[in-house]
Amino acid sequence: MGGGIAQVLAASGRQVSLHDAVPGAAENALQSMRRSLDKLAEKGGADAGGVLERVEGVGDLVPADLMIEAVVEDAVVKKDLFRRADDALPPEAILASNTSSIPIASLAAATRRPAQVIGMHFFNPVPVLKLVEVISSDETSDETRAAIVALAEDLGKVPAEARDSPGFVSNRILMPFLNEAAYALEEGVAEAEAIDTIAKLGFAHPMGPLALADLIGLDTCVAIMEVLHEGLGDPKYEPCPLLRQHVAAGRLGRKSGRGFYEYPK
Ligand code: CAA
Repeated sequence: MGGGIAQVLAASGRQVSLHDAVPGAAENALQSMRRSLDKLAEKGGADAGGVLERVEGVGDLVPADLMIEAVVEDAVVKKDLFRRADDALPPEAILASNTSSIPIASLAAATRRPAQVIGMHFFNPVPVLKLVEVISSDETSDETRAAIVALAEDLGKVPAEARDSPGFVSNRILMPFLNEAAYALEEGVAEAEAIDTIAKLGFAHPMGPLALADLIGLDTCVAIMEVLHEGLGDPKYEPCPLLRQHVAAGRLGRKSGRGFYEYPK
């Protein structure tokens, strides 16, 4: 998602530094951006070259007005990044997280600027989906909130605000739906294709819940459900055993080539 976020920021005319600790990840993101921009250019969107010129891969965190973190959905990794960003970015900079579920207050507590820490949650594929869920903690200042709402609008997105509760609104609604679909599959209620067809044609969803879980990443889905389960204390959020089994077997969805479905290269 970091690449998609970088793309929409660059397409709005902003200069973006893209950092990923995994070697080669930033280059892969640039390639996906090119493919995405080519699709958009076919429909009269911005010229791919011009947008990509504004994205620079960097080997470490660099000074900037805004950081949007989109690392793995793991509170320890995210807090460590926020600690480092607090040192690397100027004191007036905003530190935003694209987290799907982790409390913003816990990320803010890793910094000396809790008033400038906020959730800016995009949706995949970022260049296509219009929503940005904006999550303020009790410490987030009105100035920070207003700046991020204005930025989302400037990117052509529609901001919707939520309080800092586990999974916020989006994943509190979405994850039980995906989890229930996994239970229906596990219990043999229907084949995967039938479950997804029911959601697509019965509820006019663009894709079924199992295909969507593969798009999000089954490991990410499990991580989000664990935050919901632990944070809200209700067993209804516990991940379905089939989801855990797939993750343990390396079936992570599209990114690993196999999840509920197969994705040949
Ligand atoms: N960049 C640019 N354009 C893209 C694109 C990309 N990465 N991906 C798709 N598109 C464009 C296509 O070119 C196409 O455009 P036209 O209609 O103008 O031709 C349009 O989007 C639709 O794409 P496709 O025809 O290829 O396929 P589709 O109609 O099946 O749509 C989809 C694909 C956009 C992914 C659609 O199925 C969809 O919206 N699915 C639901 C996705 C969703 O729910 N995402 C949220 C996940 S939750 C999350 O991200 C956050 C979290 O916390 C877990």
